Amino acid sequence: MKTYIVANWKMYLNAEESFKTAEHIKANLTKRDNLELIVCPNALAFNGVRDILKDTVSYGAQNVAWTPLGAYTGAISALLFYQDGARYALVGHSERRYIFGEDNEAVRKKMNACIDTGLIPILCIGETHDDKEEEKQEYRIKKQLMKALEGLDLQGIVPLVAYEPVWAISNFGIGQPCDPEYANQMHAIIKKELTQYTDAAIPVLYGGSVDNNNIASYVARENINGVLVGSASTNGHVLLDLLDKGAQC
Ligand code: PGA
Repeated sequence: MKTYIVANWKMYLNAEESFKTAEHIKANLTKRDNLELIVCPNALAFNGVRDILKDTVSYGAQNVAWTPLGAYTGAISALLFYQDGARYALVGHSERRYIFGEDNEAVRKKMNACIDTGLIPILCIGETHDDKEEEKQEYRIKKQLMKALEGLDLQGIVPLVAYEPVWAISNFGIGQPCDPEYANQMHAIIKKELTQYTDAAIPVLYGGSVDNNNIASYVARENINGVLVGSASTNGHVLLDLLDKGAQC
């Protein structure tokens, strides 16, 4: 299985900064068959970044609305992102769940919208700090998987799953790094759980304070098929170094 590196630029970069980072990537990117880079710019920068990087990388939406078109002020649907060149979409990111109040039902609608549109959802799951303190991490991820996947017709699409312990996410969690072996064990539990919902081999990525110094400690583990990177991915030099190190594992 190839290694996936998702660069989630969140709302860190404005359009001009996004284009600059894209230009840097374009000038220095080494294309590798065993590695897929998925860039998720903000919606305003999406087309500009795509026009710079063209088909050298894949593109993901950071968030999608589940209704394709219509009177939905401020929304951008899975369909609109798909038509503009996105192949992936983040669904259920913890910042959407815990800052913007998206519940499992909203996550499910977004999963459906992605699948119906042909976008590959990157389903984000992970326990909070309180869950972990109460030793409810397995309960939380299993529930999130069940709510997102039970009875879902994947229509031949193989989603990605990103395990992102909320407490390990930089500038949002408590900034506590996640022990790679703990992550690896959680991935094993997730992979086993996923067999309940599909026969497909679903890649499971790790996310939470990944950077160019620690990426190898995650992707070298047997159950970790890539990483979802936030703040470190916004710096072109760091992102390229991350790709180099990811490709070596
Ligand atoms: P981080 O974010 O790499 O800045 O911790 C990861 C994520 O939330 O996707």
